[in-house]
Amino acid sequence: MAQYLSETAKKVTTLCVRQMKAQGEKISMLTSYDYTTAGIVDAAGIDIILVGDSASNVMAGNSTTLPITLDEMALYGRSVVRAVSHAMVVCDMPFGSYQVSAEDAVRNAIRLMQQTGADAVKLEGGEAIIPAIRRIIAAGIPVMGHLGLTPQSINVFGSYGVRAREEAEAERLMADAKALEAAGCFALVLEKIPAALTQRVCSSLSIPVIGIGAGPADGQVLVIDDMLGKNKGFHPKFLRCYADLHGIMTDAIGRYVSDVRSGDFPNEGECY
Ligand code: KIV
Repeated sequence: MAQYLSETAKKVTTLCVRQMKAQGEKISMLTSYDYTTAGIVDAAGIDIILVGDSASNVMAGNSTTLPITLDEMALYGRSVVRAVSHAMVVCDMPFGSYQVSAEDAVRNAIRLMQQTGADAVKLEGGEAIIPAIRRIIAAGIPVMGHLGLTPQSINVFGSYGVRAREEAEAERLMADAKALEAAGCFALVLEKIPAALTQRVCSSLSIPVIGIGAGPADGQVLVIDDMLGKNKGFHPKFLRCYADLHGIMTDAIGRYVSDVRSGDFPNEGECY
């Protein structure tokens, strides 16, 4: 559990994560999409749980994050929130829920907060969505920003490759990061950018910067299914696997199938 948490302040808040950065304490963040997993992640001491729109890939098998809807995010979000007592829960605003207008964005952010009980929302993008972010924060909803590889823009990028390698894009990202901080974001995710650029952003901002494939930062985030090794064919350079759940699950299910087929399961002790 993070050291700054006293016995009377058990829930991680936006204030806590700002203090963690100020004190040089690293922030841990993982995604979750369901009640059971979120309970395990929370009890293991994570600081922030992200109900990512990566649920579109991980839970629904889509090839991008674009198809996931606000209703689907709300379902995943409230399932996670029910399981969590310590971590801050941040819910992604899905594609199409905040890009049309600031008014639309604040309406959808309010709906997501009310229907999930999450503590904050995350939006992808920089300058173009600053008016939406300002409106959402003015409504009392904390916002986490997200720059670099922003998967909702995959059709503009054309690939999931590293972003901001070129000077012009790196400078634009720096300007966006500062604009997000000035608009009131409490934290920022940087995805798949060069480590040197992440360092520049971290030292230019007072809000925490949480990286994924972006090198050392104020904190790190991974997609839970990836770091648990559930996704057999997915091994990007930035991913560290902490388990081989694909292997463990395949073996367990294979043994179950074999026990059912042989009549070994259920045995006498497993009957009423
Ligand atoms: O949706 C997600 O899981 C994310 C993380 C990759 C940061 O946005």
